[in-house]
Amino acid sequence: MRQPLVMGNWKMNGRRSMVESLLKVVMADIGELSGVEVAVCPPYPYVGLVMDRLAAHSTVVCGAQDVSAYADGAYTGEVSAEMARDVGCRFAIIGHSERRTLFGETDAVVAQKFARSLAADLTPVLCVGETSAERDAGRTQEVVLRQLSAVFKECGSGAFERAVVAYEPVWAIGTGRAASPEEAQAVHRFIRDVITRQNAPAAGRLRILYGGSVKAQNARELFGQDDIDGGLIGGASLVGADFVSICRAAGIG
Ligand code: PGA
Repeated sequence: MRQPLVMGNWKMNGRRSMVESLLKVVMADIGELSGVEVAVCPPYPYVGLVMDRLAAHSTVVCGAQDVSAYADGAYTGEVSAEMARDVGCRFAIIGHSERRTLFGETDAVVAQKFARSLAADLTPVLCVGETSAERDAGRTQEVVLRQLSAVFKECGSGAFERAVVAYEPVWAIGTGRAASPEEAQAVHRFIRDVITRQNAPAAGRLRILYGGSVKAQNARELFGQDDIDGGLIGGASLVGADFVSICRAAGIG
């Protein structure tokens, strides 16, 4: 049995006041939720504040939105995986499509970040997914396979023993147009099959999250699919009540 995981990706949003009020809602309403692991991923300047507010609250943990491909050293502006772990992060989102597209992260760089996270005892959450053009061209599996293979190449067949994968079709992110549950399930199944060929026990335990326009209204049906083990939530994670509903849906689904 895989424990569902729901992660809120706040992206570059928030101020101290927003963090305070959002966490108040989340913590008050998530208290009695059992069986679902919940993480919030704030921008780095707010990690300390989040850790402070979550301190007495074991259900919700903190994650990083990105880490450097380098270890500590002369890399101005970067944050190492070791630092993220040191300040209390448990997860690190790796290779989000915004990082790949807007900041030019290649599969090889993403794989290095994945490896750094593992080495720092952070659980990497590898984002994979095709663009709209790739989908239209029938290349979804090819793209996802390429993205997974880069990580296997860097980290070996044990790569996904302590990791999470998030299937995030680029065309569904922030568009209000989520993949249908059946469509998402088919890709999740494909991802698990690819990983099974390298490491069957790890593939069986691996949590594969769906991300891209998950809302309170569609979460339950998505999470009810066999190979969808939770979600990576962007926009809806900034609204406390919506995020809580989505976390509940993961507990029911
Ligand atoms: P969205 O973003 O939920 O706003 O579509 C998801 C993500 O980018 O992780």
